[in-house]
Amino acid sequence: MYIRPRRNRKHQAIRNMVEESTLGPEHLIYPLFVQEGKNIKEEIPSLPQNYRWSLDTLLPELEECLELGVKQYVLFPAVREELKDRTASYGLDPNNFYLEYVRQIKDRFPEIVLMSDVAMDPYSSDGHDGLVENGKILNDETLPILTEMAVVQAQAGFDVIGPSDMMDGRVGAIREALDQAGYSETSIMSYTAKYASAFYGPFRDALDSAPKAGDKKTYQMNPANKREALLEAQLDFEEGADMLMVKPALCYLDIIHLLKEQFPLPITAYNVSGECAMIHAAARNGWLDYHATMSEMLLSIRRAGADGILTYFAKDFALLKKS
Ligand code: PBG
Repeated sequence: MYIRPRRNRKHQAIRNMVEESTLGPEHLIYPLFVQEGKNIKEEIPSLPQNYRWSLDTLLPELEECLELGVKQYVLFPAVREELKDRTASYGLDPNNFYLEYVRQIKDRFPEIVLMSDVAMDPYSSDGHDGLVENGKILNDETLPILTEMAVVQAQAGFDVIGPSDMMDGRVGAIREALDQAGYSETSIMSYTAKYASAFYGPFRDALDSAPKAGDKKTYQMNPANKREALLEAQLDFEEGADMLMVKPALCYLDIIHLLKEQFPLPITAYNVSGECAMIHAAARNGWLDYHATMSEMLLSIRRAGADGILTYFAKDFALLKKS
């Protein structure tokens, strides 16, 4: 035997030197759920160790995470049912609590990077990402709502706008609206290949945002499709996206790899709520080791080609690295 791959694995220092993928807190984006009120830190039953925060409880949490090296966050608003309507009007109100929180967080932590979610579902009485009429999701009628939402978010101080709605043409429409409003430096991280996945369950529990009727299959992608992700990516690229996201991550590592090879833009991947919940559930039963499986999962997403990973494990991973 002339070739023995094990020789490069015989010593920790050698293993470290030949390691092909890296993973640190700098690669992670931490999704957090926010809600109105005071002194709230309410655990999401289907997503252990994740909470709905009010601003006063969130600020110290952010301070702690920033110190651990987690600098980037996506915020999702849990909106009271009474404030939801057909046109998601609360999402366009510059004085809504979500945008107020953003102003205060940016004020308190100027070094933080805040990413938004652009879609109608947190504010929609139909629980859909687009405007619903007679059971149909209207594409072009949704675009002005999304562009207005993006502009008020940029105004409030979001660094990166994250269209998660999967309407056709939304990236271009949002780019144009942002530029016209004077926000040419505000980035767009597009949810480019977002699949109609069963792994979003805990997230919809967190926001109480599940569709009231039907499903999201007329806008989110079919899990069977790969070449279609190239089409979505091509469009987002041409329409001015700064980063392309694949979502979910774990069952879609091939898509992450594909987009990384084919497009000269950073790729992010969303390690979604269901992927996180699975590990918590198994760990609670003593079936899997929480820290080891979580780290391996995140590393695999980096190895597939993701530059950044949106993950509910961000804080725990950073804590693990510190220890
Ligand atoms: C909706 C949105 C969803 C997620 C992020 N933005 C759910 C959905 O499309 O129904 C899911 C994230 C997760 O599961 O962690 N615009």
